[in-house]
Amino acid sequence: MTLDFDHATLTINKNIYGHFAEHLGRCIYDGIWVGPDSDIPNINGYRKDILEALKELNIPVLRWPGGCFADTYHWKDGVGPVENRPKIKNYFWGGVIEDNSFGTHEFLNLCEILGADPYVSVNVGSGTVEEMVEWIEYMTSDEDVPMANWRRENGREDPWDVKFLGIGNESWGCGGEMRPEYYSDLLRRYSLYANLYGQRKFKRIGCGANGTDYNWTDVVMSRAARHMDALSVHYYTIATGNWGNKSSATDFGEELYFSALKHSLHMDELISKHSAIMDKYDPQKRIPLMVDEWGIWTDPEPGSTPGFLYQQNSMRDALIAATTFDIFHKHCDRVQMANIAQMVNVLQAMILTKDDQMVLTPTYHIFNMYKVHQNATYIPVMLKCEDYKFGNETIPALSGTASQKDGKINISLSNLNPNESKTIEVDLEGAKVKNVTNAVILTAPQINSVNTFENPDVVKPEHFSDFRLKKEKLSVTLPPHSIVTLEIQ
Ligand code: AHR
Repeated sequence: MTLDFDHATLTINKNIYGHFAEHLGRCIYDGIWVGPDSDIPNINGYRKDILEALKELNIPVLRWPGGCFADTYHWKDGVGPVENRPKIKNYFWGGVIEDNSFGTHEFLNLCEILGADPYVSVNVGSGTVEEMVEWIEYMTSDEDVPMANWRRENGREDPWDVKFLGIGNESWGCGGEMRPEYYSDLLRRYSLYANLYGQRKFKRIGCGANGTDYNWTDVVMSRAARHMDALSVHYYTIATGNWGNKSSATDFGEELYFSALKHSLHMDELISKHSAIMDKYDPQKRIPLMVDEWGIWTDPEPGSTPGFLYQQNSMRDALIAATTFDIFHKHCDRVQMANIAQMVNVLQAMILTKDDQMVLTPTYHIFNMYKVHQNATYIPVMLKCEDYKFGNETIPALSGTASQKDGKINISLSNLNPNESKTIEVDLEGAKVKNVTNAVILTAPQINSVNTFENPDVVKPEHFSDFRLKKEKLSVTLPPHSIVTLEIQ
């Protein structure tokens, strides 16, 4: 592996380490919010244990209220005295009753507690421009206007600092079943009013493609590039490649381990192709690409409520997270935000909860190990390595990334091969480094090892020492299915 210090000019936007919390299953309710009267230890209704664990990750940005839920959400249901808030049906996710006890105040206050920028997804599918404009005024105005005054009546004097506004979610699907031509016109219209006639400077994020739907990107860019500040894309890893039969989060062998990694590495090609289309209309790269939903989506845990998308999280998921970050870094000229789906108890979650217990997942540990790369200068890497072969297929056995900040170089390396250790020689020529000052490894007994409420520390970061730094040559030996992060000064 060689590090190209001469071309280390771009920054890894911290927002690549963003999160997503939807009114879906037990993400918000139970996972984050239990209400102030709960027996579960809480701070003004937010679970204390979850807040502490999330603060550790330096979460830069949090997307809410969905997902598919966003295009059914009417924000006025979620403000004012809790006892007066209507109970509605959550049509997309399990048909459960949503009591709206977690609404705008609860979300934006959570962002303030976490130090995260709010990313609010507005309802384009079943809402109106008027509803959006009123919501914006409610959240962000400090003037003597009706919605800001209503906010004050509801207990919040100062406006919140909302930076990101999503103009619809999956408008090609659950957000309205639209064609890209029709959506482009709506994007232009909503975007105009979103900035309150030029007085508000949100980053307005246009709804992007479903995975490899490159036509969507082409049409929306060609018709509405001037009317957005970013474009999104959603891509989920399905181990089988078959949405109808996704396979278990825990009960898998090497075949599904391999194919999940292969599908997740597809993110590289996907970003390259969407970026190339965006380059046609935006060669200056004014419009970033936001991968605002990503992660592995498996079958739900047996016995969990259908529609709640509750899944366990294994060593395989940790490798998916690490290698996906490596890809995002590589594309940091265009990719400026990503939001893993989702934060707690849903899909590839950071944390799982059961009553008053919580467990940190292998994915959580990767977010923690990789946070050193947030807002650091990306060092382009060249990695030549053997392939990891399974059957007739191959993927690179290794993945890696590097960045520098505050006089330190941080290198993260993954060994995807579950059967063999790998030694990587890293050429640090020109770096003038002396010591490895911190080294951490995440590995596990098995590729499908998980953390459970009974055994929460099966997959957890450990001190790592299997490396040698001699002059400007670093040699690192990675055990099978492992991820290492090294800090060098
Ligand atoms: O993250 C779960 C769902 O996946 C979201 O609600 C939707 O946007 C996507 O299809």
